[in-house]
Amino acid sequence: MLQATVWALTGIGIGFVLLVYLYVFVQSGKQADTATVTAGFYRIRPWWFGVLAVVMVVAAAFTLPQLPYADTHNRAATPPDLTVQVVGHQWYWELSQNEVPVNKDIAFEVTAKDVNHSFAIYDESGRMVAQTQAMPGYTNILRYRFDTPGTYKLLCLEYCGVVHHAMRSDFVVTAENGEAQQ
Ligand code: CUA
Repeated sequence: MLQATVWALTGIGIGFVLLVYLYVFVQSGKQADTATVTAGFYRIRPWWFGVLAVVMVVAAAFTLPQLPYADTHNRAATPPDLTVQVVGHQWYWELSQNEVPVNKDIAFEVTAKDVNHSFAIYDESGRMVAQTQAMPGYTNILRYRFDTPGTYKLLCLEYCGVVHHAMRSDFVVTAENGEAQQ
């Protein structure tokens, strides 16, 4: 749904830019009085600035609260329920455990042994739920709470060599009673 909306908006944007180019192309042969054109644009400019300012403030107000950073920083102040060590290798993930219970505040301590990888967790519908870089010599902490049990996929999102595409494994989130839900 979101993807379709983004595609539609992108299509409309491309169409608009194309129309502007066509208009400029068609008009380019015509002569016009510079003073008249300049005066016209100078009249629009303050309004245009105002419209853009309002659009940007509204867009920022709606989208900034959605950023996950604040949530991560707030949680960093409290200790996690569980810590999972993650090491990226060419070309596999090494985890201290491949199974965690649902509704626990998990801290993934993510690093790499060789080159940069990207640690991404996908749910069963193929939606990415969390992601961070796996870098050699550095540990990134990814805090996440799974609210749905199931078998998640761990994928590498950063090109890390010829077998990058096969760098994936399963990660099981069990229900409260300890059973993985099917
Ligand atoms: Cu590891 Cu791509």
